[in-house]
Amino acid sequence: MRKLNYTSQSVQESAQRIGSIIHDLKHFSRYGLSNVKPVALNHIVETALRLTHNNVKRLQLQLSLHPQLPAIKGDELQLQLLLINLIQNACLAMDKIHPLLTIETRIEEGRVYLKVIDNSSGMQPHIQARIREPFFTTRREQGGTWAWAFDHQ
Ligand SMILES: Nc1ncnc2c1ncn2[C@@H]1O[C@H](COP(=O)(O)OP(=O)(O)O)[C@@H](O)[C@H]1O
Ligand SMILES: [Mg+2]
Repeated sequence: MRKLNYTSQSVQESAQRIGSIIHDLKHFSRYGLSNVKPVALNHIVETALRLTHNNVKRLQLQLSLHPQLPAIKGDELQLQLLLINLIQNACLAMDKIHPLLTIETRIEEGRVYLKVIDNSSGMQPHIQARIREPFFTTRREQGGTWAWAFDHQ
């Protein structure tokens, strides 16, 4: 009976999450090419976490969102994709028994900061040196992050 309750609760949670994801995707399907406007960064973090839930649920998440964060000027979709990529990268890099992902928004000296930190071993210097190269990846054979993300759903 307890198992049944648990199952129906998780089905309900999954249904709610799917509803939110459909809402997020509909929102982006109405989106123009470039769209710079005031953006709520905390909202971006919450949406990105919903869309990466299947990978993030495998690790410990430490979330620290500043409650009075002012809006920043930016392209919401670009920021969303950037954050999803950072989260997926962190999930893929995890090589510790207790993987930890920390996401933080804060204000410092009038600037808004977003930090995404993982406790994996990080990048070798030769990889770090190439990180700003467009299309650089060490996951070519796996087809890149996106293929990986869909594979693991
Ligand atoms: N958090 C991370 N920890 C360790 N290595 C990382 C991390 N993020 C990115 N990398 C390395 O940087 C490369 C480039 O990342 P990215 O530009 O997101 O492309 P992709 O994820 O498709 O490979 C990755 O292939 C990986 O080797
Ligand atoms: Mg990536």
